[in-house]
Amino acid sequence: MTISTAEIRSAFLDYFARHGHQKVASSSLVPADDPTLLFTNAGMNQFKDVFLGAEKRAYTRAVSSQRCVRAGGKHNDLENVGYTARHHTFFEMLGNFSFGDYFKKEAIAFAWNFLTEELKLPKEKLLVTVYAEDDEAFAIWEKDIGLPAEKIIRISTSDNFWSMGDTGPCGPCSEIFYDHGEHIWGGPPGSPEEDGDRFIEIWNLVFMQFNRQADGTMEPLPKPSIDTGMGLERISAILQHVHSNYEIDLFQALIKDTAQVTGAKDLEDKSLRVVADHIRSCSFLIADGVLPSNEGRGYVLRRIIRRAVRHGYKLGAKDIFFYQLVSSLVTQMGEAYPELKSQQATIERVLKAEEEQFARTLERGMQILSDALENLDGEVIPGELVFKLYDTYGFPSDLTNDVARERGYSIDEQGFEAAMAEQRKRAQAASNFGADYNAQLTSENSSEFTGYEHNEGMAEVVELFNQQSAVNSLATGEQGIVVLDNTPFYAESGGQVGDTGVLKLLNGTFRVTDTIKLGNAIAHKGLAEAAIALGDKVEAQIDTARRQAIKLNHSATHLLHAALKKVLGEHVNQKGSLVQPDKLRFDFSHFEGVTREQLVEIENLVNQQVRENHDLTTRLMAIEDAKAAGAQALFGEKYDDEVRVVSMGAFSMELCGGTHVKRTGDIGLLRIVSESGIASGVRRIEAVTGEAALAYSQQQSQQLQGVASQLKSDVQAVPERVGQLLEQAKGLEKEIQQLKQKLASQAGADMLSSAVEVNGVKLLSAKLDGVEAKSLRDLMDSLKTKLGSGVLMLGVAENQKVSLIAGVTKDLTDKVKAGELVNFVAQQVGGKGGGRPDMAQAGGTQPENLDAALASVSTWLADKL
Ligand code: ALA
Repeated sequence: MTISTAEIRSAFLDYFARHGHQKVASSSLVPADDPTLLFTNAGMNQFKDVFLGAEKRAYTRAVSSQRCVRAGGKHNDLENVGYTARHHTFFEMLGNFSFGDYFKKEAIAFAWNFLTEELKLPKEKLLVTVYAEDDEAFAIWEKDIGLPAEKIIRISTSDNFWSMGDTGPCGPCSEIFYDHGEHIWGGPPGSPEEDGDRFIEIWNLVFMQFNRQADGTMEPLPKPSIDTGMGLERISAILQHVHSNYEIDLFQALIKDTAQVTGAKDLEDKSLRVVADHIRSCSFLIADGVLPSNEGRGYVLRRIIRRAVRHGYKLGAKDIFFYQLVSSLVTQMGEAYPELKSQQATIERVLKAEEEQFARTLERGMQILSDALENLDGEVIPGELVFKLYDTYGFPSDLTNDVARERGYSIDEQGFEAAMAEQRKRAQAASNFGADYNAQLTSENSSEFTGYEHNEGMAEVVELFNQQSAVNSLATGEQGIVVLDNTPFYAESGGQVGDTGVLKLLNGTFRVTDTIKLGNAIAHKGLAEAAIALGDKVEAQIDTARRQAIKLNHSATHLLHAALKKVLGEHVNQKGSLVQPDKLRFDFSHFEGVTREQLVEIENLVNQQVRENHDLTTRLMAIEDAKAAGAQALFGEKYDDEVRVVSMGAFSMELCGGTHVKRTGDIGLLRIVSESGIASGVRRIEAVTGEAALAYSQQQSQQLQGVASQLKSDVQAVPERVGQLLEQAKGLEKEIQQLKQKLASQAGADMLSSAVEVNGVKLLSAKLDGVEAKSLRDLMDSLKTKLGSGVLMLGVAENQKVSLIAGVTKDLTDKVKAGELVNFVAQQVGGKGGGRPDMAQAGGTQPENLDAALASVSTWLADKL
């Protein structure tokens, strides 16, 4: 009986727990508060601040099995997946950690004992590397462990100096390798054949000693520490006596199911591995809140999904298949990762929607790529084409690369990058347009915000700007910016617009049209209606009615956010918001349109909270406490240590610096005005509250009343009445169509009399009036039948456009071609055309030349006969 992957995971965690390590759950694949990292790529990520000394924990030893994705950023294995025995986009990293507790000696002993005593790996199969200068580690392996010196290889490259990213904790490392045996190609680490699959690294022991700075310098860590990582899939392969990770129990199950849903017959097909690998990364990423999109994490996810789908089609999948593998994955890994199980339905929906969307573009893109390859000189696909495929057909460059590689081509990466850079430049130019003058101004001041409690207050002018720079005063009629020592004006942030109002001076006012932040200063933008100078005392008054309307919308936005999560699912995340006095706008991640029923449910939930009239409370809390309490924080947003938490009943709790109502009842009513998609995977809801919501409802019913009275029915009967009218209109439309056809065939019959004979062949070349271009084909068919044998050329002039049709009866097509005829006429009316020998159509732009063109047909025909 071999040991299963699940048993190995437990054995590892238990071994280190027995040796004083705290078991810590895997963190999310989306690193919390770490903009330097795209995805969690190692077990140590969640302990980064502990290594740096910025965070303290109750324990100094930890052990975890961490889900990791290496498909973007510093550690990226995407392109290798499927082509080697050991690379994955998603994998599990087993790791033990010491935060200033034990160091090299113990770390090495733990690893060695676990491998050779717990797992009973034969010692002679193991060899290790150390960093070239690390004599201490060398000595421990040689003296304490008793490994022969030839099995301890010194490596001087970055392979044995591990860093989390361009910045952050790092240090020299010692890696343990397993020799899979002579029958597999490859050489020991450091040899020219090291990339082969014979000697496989299974465990990396990092002796954390430094914090790499952005400029490359190394600062020593407060205490030397230990970070280790062992790939669960690799160690499983060894213990299950197989050579490739893809042969372990977990992968074999996934591969079998992949073969089943795609209809693949050959279980050795590399594409099966690709799909089995990718279903893991995609499912876990979605479970952790990432959705396919065109930027950042979402784009990486999209690329992986698309790569998987394409390999699925190569395997023979005829239909949408990828999402069907989620249940198989849940069977394999749901036990160890409950979040996978609980998010199963969401994962399936996201994958299905994405695959459907991709299927539509895939066919087009593949056609274009295949055509291009056929006409290609040489073996390199130009960067421009790779870019076009990316830009127009959603083909990620690595997908193009993948297809190219299979067919013996490569892509011009540099050309592609250049085209991408161009596009970025264009996008940037577009977004800089309209940049405001205050973008250049900076302030060293900091203003106190008094607006949570007050709408007005006395203050002193501490800084002034005109439209270019800092000044001592602003003259009457001048536009500029006023900074006060304290102010009730809210500066635009967190989606809430800035306040407006007045700063009252002794002899006039400064009219504030907007309030923004300049660093820590609150800047009042507007017009000096009287002169204003540094040191002046002012009475600052916000426009309270406007602020009140803003408050309603802001609090309602929080309720809406919570309701969206309840109705649509936990994957809903805020992508942006705009809180104005007249309406609110909320953008969020979701992969399909919100149905009308869902919108009603969302509206109902919010309004229920409004009626329950909860007190709104705000509390200042430590960020960790706030998150632990379940407060909604925004992805990727940096927060201060102390944060303001806004709660309404048990329904909503968010980190927010904005201004809010006292009780939810103040909102009065919320009405959703629109729901739409604004980018792939991002939806937008616009809504109104309070008086605006009432006005909106009244306006809607007035409009309905208006319609009813026009229809001479009452409001209830409007839908039925409209239905009837539409039916009626359809009937009339049909009738008109029939009449038109009748007229046309009558006109045609009349025309037959104007046919002439050219060298014994009947020719009808005529202009038609009152015939729609789209009925020309039917008319042509019926005229041909009536004429029996002959050549026909018909033209219609309609709205500055010419439509032409030529017909030749079958008996004459070897002499006269309709395509040539129509082209001959079309050229004379500014057009071009072609088609079958018996029927061809064309268009033109010069109706004034139509008569002459039609008249010229008889000479043309005479030439042909
Ligand atoms: N953090 C180390 C690695 O990822 C253990 O290899």
